Amino acid sequence: MKRREIFAGNWKMYKTYQDAVDLVKGLSAGVKKTDGREYAIFIPAPYLRDISSLCADTLFVTGAQNMYFENQGAFTGEISPLMVRDCGAAFILIGHSERRHIFHETDEDVNKKVRAALTHRLQPMICVGELLNERENNETLQVLERQVKGALLNIEKSDMAKISIAYEPVWAIGTGKVATPEIAEEAHISIRNIIKGLYGSDISESIPVLYGGSVKPDNIAGLYKMNNIDGVLVGGASLETKDFLPIVNVKN
Ligand code: PGA
Repeated sequence: MKRREIFAGNWKMYKTYQDAVDLVKGLSAGVKKTDGREYAIFIPAPYLRDISSLCADTLFVTGAQNMYFENQGAFTGEISPLMVRDCGAAFILIGHSERRHIFHETDEDVNKKVRAALTHRLQPMICVGELLNERENNETLQVLERQVKGALLNIEKSDMAKISIAYEPVWAIGTGKVATPEIAEEAHISIRNIIKGLYGSDISESIPVLYGGSVKPDNIAGLYKMNNIDGVLVGGASLETKDFLPIVNVKN
């Protein structure tokens, strides 16, 4: 089955405005149109509206890196799904490990955000992944099960076409320690099996499962050729055109 493929960059809390504009211009000039591939960048909230406008005539769409689940209210410092949508984003990143581990987001928060995103026609990209000690204790499958089931609680089958999952082992994020293609593939198959148990094989075979964690120009080819890796979510290497372009343009 041909699945959606998504190549995504997560800028995290990097770039000032002019650098962000220059990066988007460089990326849009260098990305090649490849059948079936989608390109997304997760932008810091203050630049989301401008960068979304800049992306309008390019192959890239934008997303926010986080949001709160309420539409509005007295939640100082938060941004709402309505605002994210209003800024022109197509995607929303939910449950990134930095949100879970630095800002203590729970599976319940993640689930509320997924539901809010769907209500506002944003496409949730849900991040899951185990810590190093969880992998060493053979708890990877349990963690994935808890995070995937938690995120998708009460999500209707009909909404699943809008959802993608990013498998990001926490020990591989920003560490330069990439998961081998085989380790990633195994986790992706586990994620599909969990989804199969929840929604059946059509959905589990069609949902895009991305890999993230130290993806670089020199390891993308090995990851991308795996059957169950449908694209990548890239942090550090999405911040420079010279790194991100070879990733998004990797040969089929
Ligand atoms: P990295 O980050 O590519 O810098 O490891 C990935 C991510 O956090 O999404």
